[in-house]
This record gives sequence, C-alpha cells and structure tokens, in this order.
Amino acid sequence: MNREDFPMLESGVIYFDNGATTLKPKSVVDAMNKYYLEHTSNIHRGDYDAAIKTNELYDNVRNIVGEFINCDPTTCIFTSGTTMSLNMVVFGYMKKHLKKGDEVLLNKAEHASNVLPWIKLSEEIGIVVKYVPLDDDYELTFDNIVKSVTEKTKVISLAHISNVVGDVRDIKSIGEFCHKNKILFNVDGAQSIPHIKMDFKNSNIDFLSFSGHKMCGPTGVGVLVGKRELLEEMEPIIFGGGMNSYFEEDNSYELKTVPTKFEAGTTAIAEVIGLGATIKYLMGIGMDKIHEYEILLKNYFLDAVKDIPNLIIYNKNSDSGIIALNIDGVFAQDTSVYLNHYKIAVRAGNHCAKMLKDEIKIKNTVRVSMYFYNNYEDIDKLVEALRNSKDIFKVVL
Ligand code: ALA
Repeated sequence: MNREDFPMLESGVIYFDNGATTLKPKSVVDAMNKYYLEHTSNIHRGDYDAAIKTNELYDNVRNIVGEFINCDPTTCIFTSGTTMSLNMVVFGYMKKHLKKGDEVLLNKAEHASNVLPWIKLSEEIGIVVKYVPLDDDYELTFDNIVKSVTEKTKVISLAHISNVVGDVRDIKSIGEFCHKNKILFNVDGAQSIPHIKMDFKNSNIDFLSFSGHKMCGPTGVGVLVGKRELLEEMEPIIFGGGMNSYFEEDNSYELKTVPTKFEAGTTAIAEVIGLGATIKYLMGIGMDKIHEYEILLKNYFLDAVKDIPNLIIYNKNSDSGIIALNIDGVFAQDTSVYLNHYKIAVRAGNHCAKMLKDEIKIKNTVRVSMYFYNNYEDIDKLVEALRNSKDIFKVVL
C-alpha cells in the first residue's frame, strides 16, 4: 500500500527492517522542512509570527496524539523516544513510589529499555525484578502473568508487541487485572502503536511509551502518556529551561504543570511536527487496515516457505508482521548479509532482548518485520532468496 509515498523504495530496496525503524513518507519530511525553511523558531518563548505559528503546530500535535490513541492530550509528553519515556517512568515515578522488596514483573522477551532501568532501580532501592515464563511459542500469556503475581507485585511492565517474536499481548485483560489488583501497568508500545489500534483510555494502562521513527516519523521524538494523577506525582528526570516557573537564590523553585514540566530545554521541535504529520498520515490509511494487511503478508510468507526444509520459523502463530527465523546451521548475521545481496534488508542478532536466548535456546535470529508498504512481490523475492540459500556461503564469503 502507498508505496509511491516513500521515495526510498525507488532505490529497489526490499525493506523488512521495520521493527528497527521505518521508511519516511515525503509528506512527513516536507512537514519538517517547512518548519526549518519557513518558520524556524523556538517554542513557548517568542512573541513573533514564526514563533506563534510554531507554538500552535507543536502543541496541536498533543491533540493529534489524543485522537490517535484516545488519550487526554494534556497528558501527552514529548520525549526523545521510547527509551527515554521508559526511563522517565522508572526513575521519575517508580523510584519515588516503590520500596525495597516490591516486585516488578517483566519477561525475558523484553527489550533492553524495559529491563535495564528496572535492574538499575533494583540496585538503587532494592526492588525485586521477576520474569514471567513464556509459553511454548515464546509468547507471554495472561495466565502465566496471573500465576506469577504475588502480594508483593506492584508493577507489571511489558511490551504490547514483542520486538523479537511479535506476539501481541492481551493488554485489555492484563490492564483490567492490574486495575482490580492495584498493580501499576506500564506498557512499551514501540512495536504496537505503529501497527495496531490503541485505545489508551479503555485499556487501564497507567503509562504508555512509543517512538516516532517506528511509525514513519522522525528519529529523536517519542511520547509518554500516563494517567493524569500519576504524572502529577511523577518527578522530571531532566531539569532546565521551559519547565520551571521560577528559581531563586535561596534554592526555591517551582515547576510548571504536566506535560510542560517534563519537556526541559529546547525539544525536538521539527520532529514533534513530523510526528504530527506521520500520525495524520497513518490515520488516513487506518490502523485496522494496516494490521489486517500485515497479517495477510505474513500468512502469504508462511504459506510460501512451507516446503523449504532448512528454514526454522520460531513464531508462526504470532498475530503481527514480525517473523523470527533462521536457516538451519547458518549464523543469523550471515543470512542477513546474504539477503542484502538481493537488496533485502532484515535485522539479525538478539534484537536487544538479550535474555530471550534463555527461553528460545539460541542467541540470534533473523527478523523480518513488515509494514504496510511491503507488498507480495517483496515477499516473493524474500522467499526465493531463502529457497536458494544453499548458495549462501558463495555470496557471504
Ligand atoms: N528496538 C529496535 C529493534 O527492535 C531497535 O530493532
């Protein structure tokens, strides 16, 4: 779909690395260029025409986010990306509200950004980090989460969609369970918000993070959304201009309110404007349509590779456009280099989910991650290359 909007596709690249980052449509780049070329100015500081225009565009992106994921726009904080958003939750809110012995439930398929901050917090204040076991398909089930909860569980933190095996976690049921049991629910939406419809208000999520660049938007911008009462209690982890009302010689100071108190310094203005443009672009296509199409592509791929004997697929049953595979006996990175020979871009490695090897029993996989601008021809080319993989070492060596 919409391939003509993506100039990079004209190079002939077959781009299946959408889990890492996505291609950018011209309209998003144009929106940012317009800011740079026609009304460059800082935000919330100037009284001249360009500054007024920039303020309006920037702050309106909160309304666009609000419409996109059904959240209160005034609880939409612009960050540098999911990693920053998650760190803000852990060190700005959890550090103040958790105590020694409190348990946080993660799982071994989580990305580093949703594990390392918690490990660091456990070093600092003695929380206990626990891992919910995955099922035989390496998926995180509601039942396994419930079984892992104890009276000390204070937080459940997970990716809505895993970046390695692509399973879509049952956010609604988990959110309802957390709400009933007074457990905080922190969701990393980096791999889900670009691909499926999210309804923040109706999911009992306490904090939700996502990034612009994985949804056809710019790098360097992301979002943190949270329940208002929690954000009001959350401390900023970065202090500076734009987020304070005053500070004095006697060390007194006052911070602005949510969301401004979390946006210190000059933020990524062009990128926020680009984020607004990309969200409008995705809404124009329709999130349900995007998800349905990705599943069609995935099923087409799975059907086409059925008779390739040496191909291992780890996540046939997951409900997203992410496929984790290996060619039997071939190091994942060699497969990725081999595919590049056919202009096919994939990612190989542990995908920053370094503990998944404990469950999957192998360290590295090749990840094919699809988006709406992939087509059946792309899949045919990938399948053909995988079918011819006996030549792999001729190409790689
Ligand atoms: N988190 C990104 C990925 O999964 C970089 O590739």
